[in-house]
Amino acid sequence: MSYDTPDDALVIFTPSGKRGRFALGTPVLTAARQLGVDLDSVCGGRGICSKCQISPGYGEFPKHGVTVAEDALTEWNAVEERYKSKRGMLDGRRLGCQAQVMGDVVIDVPPESQVHKQVIRKSATERVIAMDPATRLLYVEVAEPDMHEPTGDFERLARALREQWQVADVTADLAILRRLQPALRKGQWKVTVALHKGNHDALPRILDLWPGFHDGAIHGLAIDLGSTTIAAHLCDLRDGRVLASGGVMNPQIRFGEDLMSRVSYVMMNAGGDVEMTRVVREALNALTQSIAAEGGIDPASIYEAVVVCNPVMHHLLLGIDPVELGQAPFALATSGSLSLDARDLDLGAINRAARVYLLPCIAGHVGADAAAVALSEEPGKSEDMVLIVDVGTNAELLLGNKTRVLACSSPTGPAFEGAQISSGQRAAPGAIERVEIDLVTKEPRFRVIGSDLWSDDPGFAAATATSGITGICGSGIIEAVAEMRMAGLLDPGGLIGGPDQTGTARCVAEGRTHSYLLHDGTSDGGPRIMVTQGDIRAIQLAKSALYAGARLLMDEMGIDHVDRVTLAGAFGAHISPKHAMVLGMIPDAPLDKVTSAGNAAGTGARIALCNVAARDQIEATVHQIHKVETAIEPRFQEHFVNANAIPHAVDAFPSLSAIVTLPDVSFNTAGTREGRRRRG
Ligand code: FES
Repeated sequence: MSYDTPDDALVIFTPSGKRGRFALGTPVLTAARQLGVDLDSVCGGRGICSKCQISPGYGEFPKHGVTVAEDALTEWNAVEERYKSKRGMLDGRRLGCQAQVMGDVVIDVPPESQVHKQVIRKSATERVIAMDPATRLLYVEVAEPDMHEPTGDFERLARALREQWQVADVTADLAILRRLQPALRKGQWKVTVALHKGNHDALPRILDLWPGFHDGAIHGLAIDLGSTTIAAHLCDLRDGRVLASGGVMNPQIRFGEDLMSRVSYVMMNAGGDVEMTRVVREALNALTQSIAAEGGIDPASIYEAVVVCNPVMHHLLLGIDPVELGQAPFALATSGSLSLDARDLDLGAINRAARVYLLPCIAGHVGADAAAVALSEEPGKSEDMVLIVDVGTNAELLLGNKTRVLACSSPTGPAFEGAQISSGQRAAPGAIERVEIDLVTKEPRFRVIGSDLWSDDPGFAAATATSGITGICGSGIIEAVAEMRMAGLLDPGGLIGGPDQTGTARCVAEGRTHSYLLHDGTSDGGPRIMVTQGDIRAIQLAKSALYAGARLLMDEMGIDHVDRVTLAGAFGAHISPKHAMVLGMIPDAPLDKVTSAGNAAGTGARIALCNVAARDQIEATVHQIHKVETAIEPRFQEHFVNANAIPHAVDAFPSLSAIVTLPDVSFNTAGTREGRRRRG
């Protein structure tokens, strides 16, 4: 060996910056693997999958102190040429398994060639999810049978997976074994398998297989199973892209609107749990079919689902009687994470071998949905004290920072989702979502979902002609009530004034109480959309429960204010922080410190779907979250009563007072049923 012709070369990978010296002739893919560089491969370096594409750089690289010669890699070969002519490849790209190192070289790994691609979530708060899904496609070449060494085809496939992909102890069920022999022979002893890594003590499992090299898509579902709505994202498990999202109402609503009424239904009706299990599973199958159609994919290509839900939904989905969750000490049948066969949950719409992962529950009233919020929002990594409120029929609250995290749930009821509201509806085109009331004239203007125009803007009627103005959704009712309070139409006790007291004919008498007319569409055949006294009461109950839960956590933490508030939930992104605070839904905090996280539970489900390590992370984290039980805590009632006032009977809201002056009104209710009720 002479000094002029070294037998190894320096290989530098970007963007990772990893570098090392390799013997001349080493394939770039091998160098990448040895350095732990994230370079994809499905075919194991056989020049079939093209996942290993790289961009070599030539010339001077002063930053790295190297000069890359034109012949730093072996010449473009026939395998690369065949791939490029058949499937196309960008100029300048090489296949990492074909190109061999012949001199110092700088190799860029483009994002699409990284296994652990980073997926940016495009929504209120951008988030990066590192791809590391539990299910991947792996191509293997299996030894042919030999009479002198009798082994089964499956055993030789398992050996090939061990040798070529370092996957040991692989398992497969009978349906796969039945298809194995024809697939191996058709593929001339080459097959591609969809392999699920397995969680904890579960062994890796073959979920599907194809003769030869297969480059089809594999999909997963992230499901947020709520008491009122079920939402799901369909994701491509190769790159984490969300292909479609959808939602349906939870059909269990007909058995009871909130969790406890559903548990009561089970207590009073033998077989009620079986019925509720059946309907929710049917709904999940129907949602899967529709979301797969929207995403333009075959539902059989869905190999995994991750479900987050509260404990009652969790038990009913699993077919476990939830009665123990309705009474102290609120014992769960199991609080750990679960990895199950989809067919055990009758989820027949997805691949028959698909796996379902349920996140762990935190405790009897604080479920896997709260765990998913913790996974998404990571309060345990926060420097300052953050309150995370996941607004739904059952609200989940997390409070904490790097030192300690507390959690509770609070039974807000479905008012925030538009249920129990006279003109309430779910968030859909035509629903009023934003409201402003003029402080002087008391006239409202509003916006509906589906149009960016306000109702007093030119062109509003035309823009909403198709959807109509059909009702008011959760964020709309929150703004309407807060605006009524700011305009002096509502007193701190939550009573709507009459026309003489408020100076507007929009406050109309309905029986012994008053309602505020937000929109009268009757001349066009549309509805009269009112905010009634009953609506105000429903919102007061919901917001008091939410606020009381937050105060209990603050008591436990020994604090009287929080540094910031994150609003989460299916419509959390749409709640105006100012209106939430006027209403007294959340404790006082500087308005610029009240932010939205969108559907954090759904995001947590998506993180767990795309990244198997995140499952381990949340399983460890739930044990560190201290749970506060609202149902048996005597101070909950006290906090609840004080929170009934708008914004609050006792607590000060200094940040709010700095920007909003709430009118000091009190409506005379003498002689009305409401007045008698209020006097007790
Ligand atoms: S690793 Fe499959 S083509 Fe290179």
